[in-house]
Amino acid sequence: MSVAILAENLTKVYVKRRSLREVALRPFRRAEPVTALSGLSLETRTGEIFGLLGPNGAGKTTFLKILTGLVLPTSGRALVIGVDVAQDDRAVKRSIGFVTSDERSFYWRLSGRENLDFFARLYGLDAASARRVSADLLREMDMESVADRSFMSYSTGMKQRLAIARALLHDPPVLCLDEPTRSLDPIAAKHLRRFVVDRLNRQRGKTVLLATHNLPEAEEMCSRLVVLDRGRIVRQGSVAAITAGLPGRDHYVLSVRGLEAPPSDPRWRLEVERQDDGIARLAAEVERDGRAFSDLLRAILDSRGTIVSCARREPSLQEVFDLMEPDPGGRIG
Ligand SMILES: Nc1ncnc2c1ncn2[C@@H]1O[C@H](COP(=O)(O)OP(=O)(O)OP(=O)(O)O)[C@@H](O)[C@H]1O
Ligand SMILES: [Mg+2]
Repeated sequence: MSVAILAENLTKVYVKRRSLREVALRPFRRAEPVTALSGLSLETRTGEIFGLLGPNGAGKTTFLKILTGLVLPTSGRALVIGVDVAQDDRAVKRSIGFVTSDERSFYWRLSGRENLDFFARLYGLDAASARRVSADLLREMDMESVADRSFMSYSTGMKQRLAIARALLHDPPVLCLDEPTRSLDPIAAKHLRRFVVDRLNRQRGKTVLLATHNLPEAEEMCSRLVVLDRGRIVRQGSVAAITAGLPGRDHYVLSVRGLEAPPSDPRWRLEVERQDDGIARLAAEVERDGRAFSDLLRAILDSRGTIVSCARREPSLQEVFDLMEPDPGGRIG
């Protein structure tokens, strides 16, 4: 498989814009630099779904903006299908489609179809081709029945599907999706994930670069990924390889009625919150050794507690980061 995207030692330093008030109060103070990416190197292959996983401010959007020619890197270089983004941004724009969750870039009073026609003309299609391509994409995105309704009447899911249709107008081989399920409900999010994997990637062979801070989403969709934190790669590889190195502890939330004293044991850590109705809420971090969890449940029952509910909680990305040893990074193979 050939290389779709190559980043070499990519760094981006923004200069924070100062408000008028700040400029008036401290006219000689220099604007503060913000390092969004710091020496990022990675390689993705054609035909794969590659994840950029990271918390707020990790640099995910900045990386996608560099690839799509919206932002220039401060140093280093990025190639999309062999073309340097700083050398030939027209060729790069032809190879890449960018889907942001920023809906302000659509015309709210125009219909979905009119919006697509308009953007297709911006890509240089003549009127007849623009209409044909827009109609094909509306069909593909299952949006024919709402195509002539105004954009402002669309649900968030419909707006997001229209954003994907717009990114496909020039049929680019690479698609960048910036947190595509961020404001979707769980069912719409699942539908969108399946659409990207089954239709765009498997059937149409699109290479996808997916930015997300949702670990299960990356797990479901991506073949490989990098974990970014404050502009650096802290982990890289398959999801299984990334989570395999984590210390084996599971998180549970239990509601227990009539708990006398919380059981203590070196294999678990409990945070107990007593509630007015006599139910204690336990946040439990339990060693994953095959026995500790059942021993905890037994200890609660032995102390005359009644377990009202128990749920396993996925660790947040921040907790995953806290558990990780720093990784020196480097090129992903
Ligand atoms: N135009 C800008 N001017 C100054 N700083 C910026 C600009 N855009 C981004 N930053 C800063 O760069 C860093 C990386 O931001 P970026 O938006 O790339 O992160 P992200 O991983 O996409 O985060 P999020 O999950 O919040 O979308 C942050 O500290 C952010 O505040
Ligand atoms: Mg972002």
